Amino acid sequence: MAAERIDGKAFAEKLRARVGEAAARFEQAAGRKAGLAVVLVGEDPASDVYVRAKGKATHAAGMNGFEHRLPADVSQDELLALVDRLNADGAVDGILVQLPLPGHLDDQAVIAAIDPDKDVDGFHVTNAGRLAVGQGGFVPCTPLGCMMLLTDRLGDLSGLEAVVIGRSNIVGKPMAQLLLDANATVTIAHSRTKDLAGVVRRADIVVAAVGRAEMVKADWLKPGATVIDVGINRLPPAEGEAKGRLVGDVDYGPASGVASAITPVPGGVGPMTIAVLLRNTLVAAHRNAGLAPPEGL
Ligand code: GUN
Repeated sequence: MAAERIDGKAFAEKLRARVGEAAARFEQAAGRKAGLAVVLVGEDPASDVYVRAKGKATHAAGMNGFEHRLPADVSQDELLALVDRLNADGAVDGILVQLPLPGHLDDQAVIAAIDPDKDVDGFHVTNAGRLAVGQGGFVPCTPLGCMMLLTDRLGDLSGLEAVVIGRSNIVGKPMAQLLLDANATVTIAHSRTKDLAGVVRRADIVVAAVGRAEMVKADWLKPGATVIDVGINRLPPAEGEAKGRLVGDVDYGPASGVASAITPVPGGVGPMTIAVLLRNTLVAAHRNAGLAPPEGL
């Protein structure tokens, strides 16, 4: 039987609608809109697409979006000065500096300059630390979105075997922390893992976040596994195609014959990231305004 397709797009739309309702209540209670500042350095086309999408979604949810575009040759000091101004700006609840930054800029130093209570990306070491010790804080949007899809489908994850493939600070590591907090038994696999197929075959839950097209094969999966595919990879164009197809890190067609549920690419994890960013921004707004966090988000 073919696996259930986990519809991240539909889930994200519902989450965005709930955020929109809560944002309207926030505006009533606080006398201002929640605000998200997005900083884009340079003109990377993919980043430009993401930043536009984030701005549009922010306005659609009834929040203020402040877009700051800086030239590719901006100095580290100028960028840090902008971050300082945003930290001090009472209309700004969340700050997102779009990554990757041009090579002459230090990503880590820029992230470290963001007020952790405005770090809606959850990239600041303070938020990574809060997640590691279970003290709340902001959780990176993509893994939090994956977790929402998993708990929606599976409910209680206690005792389940979870394998996260990939150990990035943005997805793999926080994903493992979230699964551990939910009482799963967690393995982080990566490019040096021996017998990756054998490790993945133990998993009730597989989260693939490696950025390699269709790497995870159907015969690596335990029958009935739930598969979350974080990868977005563009294949080389086939004959007659202008652009290659977008595929995930999982070989979707064959894998959906073995898994019980699987996220498609596109339309799975991708749409969740922006929805969770809006959710994190609204949570930040409540904290910054001294209000109780919104419920049901
Ligand atoms: N670049 C690609 N995804 C992201 C993201 O979620 N946050 C930031 N800041 N940059 C990104």
